[in-house]
Amino acid sequence: MKVLLLENISGIAAQLFARRGFTVETVPSALDEAALLERIGGVSILGVRSKTPITRGLIERAPELLAIGAFCIGVDRIDRAACSDRGVAVFNDPHSNSRSVAELALGEIIMLARRVFASSTELHRGDWTKSASGCHEVRGLTLGIVGYGKIGSQLSDLAEALGLRVIFHDVAEVLARGNAKRTSLPDLLEAADIVTVHVDGRPQNARMFAEQQFQCMKPGALFLNLARGSVVDYDALASALRSGRLGGAAVDVYPEEPEGNGSFATPLQGLPNVILTPHVGGSTEQAQEHIGRFVSSRLVEYAQTGNTLMSVNLPQCHLDLAAGTHRLTHLHRNMPGMLLHINEVLAERNINIERQVLDTRGELGYAIYDVNAALGEDLIKKLHQIPHTIRVRSLLQ
Ligand SMILES: NC(=O)c1ccc[n+]([C@@H]2O[C@H](COP(=O)([O-])OP(=O)(O)OC[C@H]3O[C@@H](n4cnc5c(N)ncnc54)[C@H](O)[C@@H]3O)[C@@H](O)[C@H]2O)c1
Repeated sequence: MKVLLLENISGIAAQLFARRGFTVETVPSALDEAALLERIGGVSILGVRSKTPITRGLIERAPELLAIGAFCIGVDRIDRAACSDRGVAVFNDPHSNSRSVAELALGEIIMLARRVFASSTELHRGDWTKSASGCHEVRGLTLGIVGYGKIGSQLSDLAEALGLRVIFHDVAEVLARGNAKRTSLPDLLEAADIVTVHVDGRPQNARMFAEQQFQCMKPGALFLNLARGSVVDYDALASALRSGRLGGAAVDVYPEEPEGNGSFATPLQGLPNVILTPHVGGSTEQAQEHIGRFVSSRLVEYAQTGNTLMSVNLPQCHLDLAAGTHRLTHLHRNMPGMLLHINEVLAERNINIERQVLDTRGELGYAIYDVNAALGEDLIKKLHQIPHTIRVRSLLQ
């Protein structure tokens, strides 16, 4: 099978594919639709990061495409509905850069508490102003974490190790780590010396931090957003900083971010004790390596065994491999009687089902079968002819 990896995906991914018998082509940049169409013929697995748009038009003109790996978290640029319609599995990696984000948040908390960026900027300008005023050790301060998921909970561990008192707020039932204490959002805003946001991008979270929330925070408190730009009203944050209501902020994400490197504007520019970074919270070499390893191993697993665990769009099915059996996978619309029809086709040919597993997800159903006989082309054709079938694969013969 041929693999095409775009956007400078970690070399670990190419190595892993090559070791497992795939032919690999790599392209260092993103490709636009026309350029990608020229290269997609014969490609079974396509790897992208966040810059290559995957449209329905492309999916429909790539009949051999089996799976797409998004070597990042976001899959917004991939038309997942088109992928599902054509039976193309999509995989991403929602976990691997969470440590990188937590570490950056922790570093920024110390930098803000010591006003390091403000005094560094002054010294770059040639002004020596040595002062302890407004500078604090973080030990003993209260850190309020809003959103206690993968990143928030790791930050909790790191912060407690430094002697911060951690309180957190989450809408889900999550387990408190160490001595961290759960609390409501109003109580968190009132008690925290530092508030850091790590919620996800669900629509209800749009502008959950605006003037009213900043007014409820302690005078001089610090504020961090490394989650989503849409969650914070940055005009309101800039006013709170300008008025001295807040003592500093670190921001890594913005409501609208440029597609590529170039100029950028935000109301937060030019304010003292404000750290601005261009959405680099998860951008470390270690995170890229982890993502490269994780997504490529999911893709290899899907291509070679049909297992779909962690797929973004397909139902989640896993069947351990057993020696001496032949594997069949069947992706179809989630309609009554689909298994009956598949089983009938196998039974007509006296093929015994050794094991089978089915899962459904929305409009899709996916079944993996291990059977006792090799699956010929006529049988695969017959299975394809079952109404509502999307894709049939015969593996491991
Ligand atoms: N800056 C970066 O480079 C970078 C990198 C990775 C992730 N992120 C962002 O960081 C955020 C957190 O990522 P994660 O992997 O920890 O996500 P996660 O899904 O593991 O955790 C999010 C948590 O927020 C909670 N939550 C959602 N809405 C809430 C609300 N209104 N109030 C309180 N809690 C709420 C959820 O219940 C969940 O526990 C996401 O928005 C993600 O996109 C940014």
